[in-house]
Amino acid sequence: MYHKKRFSQDYIIEKFTMGKIPMTEAFNKFFNYHELNIEERNENRYFREERSLELNIVEKKEKNQEDREKLNKLLEEMDSLIGLEEVKKIIREYIAFIKVQQLRERYQLKTSPVVMHMIFKGNPGTGKTTMARIIGKIFNEIGYLQGGELIEAERADLVGEYIGHTAQKTKKLLERALGGVLFIDEAYSLARGGEKDFGKESIDTIVKAMEDYKDKLIIILAGYRDEMNFFLRTNPGLASRFAIQIDFPDYTIDELVQIANLMYKEREYILDEKSKHYIYRILSEIRNKEIINGNARTVRNLVERSIRQHARRIIKQKNISKKDLIYITKEDLIGEEGNNEKMPCNRDA
Ligand SMILES: Nc1ncnc2c1ncn2[C@@H]1O[C@H](COP(=O)(O)OP(=O)(O)O)[C@@H](O)[C@H]1O
Ligand SMILES: [Mg+2]
Repeated sequence: MYHKKRFSQDYIIEKFTMGKIPMTEAFNKFFNYHELNIEERNENRYFREERSLELNIVEKKEKNQEDREKLNKLLEEMDSLIGLEEVKKIIREYIAFIKVQQLRERYQLKTSPVVMHMIFKGNPGTGKTTMARIIGKIFNEIGYLQGGELIEAERADLVGEYIGHTAQKTKKLLERALGGVLFIDEAYSLARGGEKDFGKESIDTIVKAMEDYKDKLIIILAGYRDEMNFFLRTNPGLASRFAIQIDFPDYTIDELVQIANLMYKEREYILDEKSKHYIYRILSEIRNKEIINGNARTVRNLVERSIRQHARRIIKQKNISKKDLIYITKEDLIGEEGNNEKMPCNRDA
């Protein structure tokens, strides 16, 4: 019977009219098909709301358009990240997969369960948190999540001090993350102390939540590649539950330079000709000597430090032009502030 199942208006329109004829006709066909009489029709809220629905359909079309635009904006945001081509490709594939499952559901076709828990493997500063945040927003937009907010956690947020405390602490965090993404950084540290460690209690709680809250949140475990591989080897149950494993490679020097340019652009600064060459040298040195393996995070520190240094430099000038306010020079990159930091550019100066 029709009232045993809630029919959405989309379903009715598509099944009974292939989306081609007006709403009224669609509903009449729907009720005739189910052999419903007038009283039953009047009881049905879709029938009662039919006229207003007809008006709504215009609004709905606009809403669809709006949703598409919102999704495109988020995809653009993802694409604006430098590099990470493989990661972007995987995420796009999952978006397509989820959308197809949603459409199949509308036509009452068989669907495959979509479990979106993920493992992110990579060094610090390779864009893991940034990507997780965008993924939350995207999956919220396509209706897989409800809210899409990212909650970041690490061992200390999950593990408690006495027996039972950990399960409680982890559970609280999981509940807070419902509808969004729970991002657990350096997740391998949960397996650090072996069987007796409270980390294990946390892992068990997470695994249980993955069953209980199946499609209500996305759990992302992140950490160094080797550590995460070891962690997964020692937890075969976990490995099978996290079907999506994504590698975040270190950025190439070119990518680091592009990231720097992007960061300046976002902050409305520009590198002048000399500093453009110089930053390439600094970043090559960092990468080649592996003095700091902070990837984009090192770039961000460098950019922010040069901006502070730029302010210190130009404030001493008598007249400050708009151009002065915009252009970063080689001097700003060398800086004074960072003298006690282990930056190659300082030794270089
Ligand atoms: N591909 C990228 N393009 C532009 N900026 C990036 C990129 N990857 C990382 N960043 C920036 O670098 C910083 C560190 O990135 P983050 O996502 O926190 O790295 P992780 O979580 O892997 O340590 C952030 O400010 C982020 O905006
Ligand atoms: Mg991070």
